[in-house]
Amino acid sequence: TIPVIAIDGPSASGKGTVAQRVAQQLGFHYLDSGALYRLTALAAQKQGVDWSDESSVTRLAAALDVVFEGETILLAGEDVSQSIRTEEMGYGASKVAALPAVRDALLQRQRDFARAPGLVADGRDMGAVVFPSAPLKIFLTATAAVRAERRYKQLLGRGEAADLAAITADLEARDERDRARAVAPLMQLPDALLLETSNLNIEQAVAQVLAWWRE
Ligand code: C5P
Repeated sequence: TIPVIAIDGPSASGKGTVAQRVAQQLGFHYLDSGALYRLTALAAQKQGVDWSDESSVTRLAAALDVVFEGETILLAGEDVSQSIRTEEMGYGASKVAALPAVRDALLQRQRDFARAPGLVADGRDMGAVVFPSAPLKIFLTATAAVRAERRYKQLLGRGEAADLAAITADLEARDERDRARAVAPLMQLPDALLLETSNLNIEQAVAQVLAWWRE
C-alpha cells in the first residue's frame, strides 16, 4: 500500500505550505483537498448554480475537469490558480463542503492521488475519511492571533489591503462554522499528533513532520 501522511488543521495554520514542503522533501505527491472544494465552488458560481443546491453542485463536483500542473490549476483549461484563493471561494468551499453528496463525489478523485512513492494529503477529513489507515496523521495548528498575523502579512506581501482585526474575526467565524458542522467537522482525531506552530517557523514545522515520519 502507498504511504500517506495526512495533515489537517484550521485555516491559515500554514498546513498547506508545510504539507507541500514535506512532499517535496520526501519526493511524495501532494493533495490539496481544499482546492477541490474551492474548484467546485468556482465551477458552481460560473454556471450560476447556488452553493446550497446539493444535487446540482454534486453533478458539477463529479464532472470537474481539473488538471494540477505543479502550482498551476486548470479548470476546463482555464488557469484558476489565483481565482480559487479568494476569501469568497474559501467561503464557497466551506459551503459546498458541508454537503455530504459533494464529499462523496470527490472521494475517489482524492484517493487517486495516492501513487508511489507516497502522498502528503492536506485537508479536513484526510485522516478520518479519505485515508483512514494513513500511518501518520497530524493536526497542525496555531493560535487564532498567530494565524491572523500570518494571513495579514501574506496579504500585505501580495500588495493587498488588509485589516488585522477583520482577518482575526473572519478566521474565528470560519473555524466556528467548520467546528460546528455535522459533516467533516474541524477537530483533532484521537490518532493524530498535535503540531502547535505558534512558536515555530516553517522549517521547524517541516522538520518535526519529517522526524515523526522517520520514527
Ligand atoms: O484548506 P482550504 O482553506 O483551501 O479549504 C477551504 C474550505 O474547504 C475549508 O474551510 C473547509 O470548510 C473545506 N474543506 C473540507 N474538506 C477538505 C478540505 C477543505 O471540508 N478536505
